[in-house]
Amino acid sequence: MKFTNMVVASLAIGLSSAALAQSIGKAEDQIRWRQSAYHTMAWNMGRIKANIEGTYNKDQVIRGSQCDPGDRQFEDGCLYPTGNTNKGKGWKETRVKGNSSPTRKASARWPRYWKEANEMAKVAATGDLAAIKAQFGKLGEACKACHDKFRKED
Ligand code: HEC
Repeated sequence: MKFTNMVVASLAIGLSSAALAQSIGKAEDQIRWRQSAYHTMAWNMGRIKANIEGTYNKDQVIRGSQCDPGDRQFEDGCLYPTGNTNKGKGWKETRVKGNSSPTRKASARWPRYWKEANEMAKVAATGDLAAIKAQFGKLGEACKACHDKFRKED
């Protein structure tokens, strides 16, 4: 490779990694977004619960159960876009357990969650409150299964 080509190539690499870092944000931002995303999941669980305990609206329950940040195509790509963010502070100290970089490990837990969430949407459509309550329990267990393995105690 000619010297000028090498300079151009290394410049391009430098630029693209800088652009990438800029587009995905600093580690602390990534942790913040991730924590916010999990909070949104909790909010959706609350929305389902309110429907079960109050006036039941099937569309609210279906929507609540289909709203998660676990990327179905890119595994945990949405929540752990780069590098290892198992240490550091977002809104607060991260509680990710283990190495978050190949968070592919954590992603192994998403399929269980999605299975229960899809089932939740199906059962929600029937309006059978007893079955809906039972499925809501299973959905909560799917959250817990991942927390037990990949989230540190508070
Ligand atoms: C595939 C794994 C996984 C699944 C499924 C999952 N969580 Fe989590 N959750 C985590 C991890 C890991 C953290 C820690 C994130 C951090 O601190 O950076 C977390 C954190 C949280 C937090 C705290 C966020 C904060 O600001 O500290 C809440 C609330 C939460 N999850 C709720 C839920 C609910 C509700 C569900 C199910 C509807 C759920 N999660 C499903 C892995 C998961």
